[in-house]
Amino acid sequence: MLRPEWPVHVDARIVKPYCAIADDIHEQGWSEQPHFLSSALTHALEAECRALAGAGALNPAQIGRGAERVCKPDVRGDCIHWIKAGQSAACDAYLAEIDALRLALNRELCAGLDEFEGHFAWYAPGTFYVRHRDRFRNDDSRVITVIAYLNDAWQTEQGGALRLHADDGGVRDIEPVGGRVVVFLSADIEHEVLPATRDRMSLAGWFRRRRA
Ligand code: OGA
Ligand code: MN
Repeated sequence: MLRPEWPVHVDARIVKPYCAIADDIHEQGWSEQPHFLSSALTHALEAECRALAGAGALNPAQIGRGAERVCKPDVRGDCIHWIKAGQSAACDAYLAEIDALRLALNRELCAGLDEFEGHFAWYAPGTFYVRHRDRFRNDDSRVITVIAYLNDAWQTEQGGALRLHADDGGVRDIEPVGGRVVVFLSADIEHEVLPATRDRMSLAGWFRRRRA
């Protein structure tokens, strides 16, 4: 059910499932799309993440905001690098994909999404991120989380799933397979990153509403 006026051909070889994502978000608060990114873009982003790591440009992630920011590897063990427009062709292509998704969600869900912030994340073997929600206690600007996975040939037994927790106590594990994108409501969906036996790379980001 694609509408001709939508910017559906950001990557002309993949027709984007915007309506399915919007329907999923509306019905269950989250959506998982296994082949959202082309393998060319996935590999380019993976190479960039590895290059940043090699250059020492990934820093231990912190939790909290402002003056309360601290590193707590027992809560969150990834190393990150915030992306910026113009830093590389791959990041610009990803940001174009993200902006097309933002416009589609605004159109379909009246989501009112104004801007995006995102970072590469590298979880070394054995690291994890405990169960949490993505919206800060004192800042409600984050509305929708978007995670893109960059891992080639991920195997189930390597662990590293994103575990979503439902209100009824059920869980849904999503493997961080390259090209897959997971989208969910930042304030509502509790989730965690399980430890893996290999390096695990992703691009984690948030659509935000500008504060009035
Ligand atoms: C986060 C997060 C999930 C993932 O960065 O807040 O929950 O699968 N990431 O990388
Ligand atoms: Mn999170």
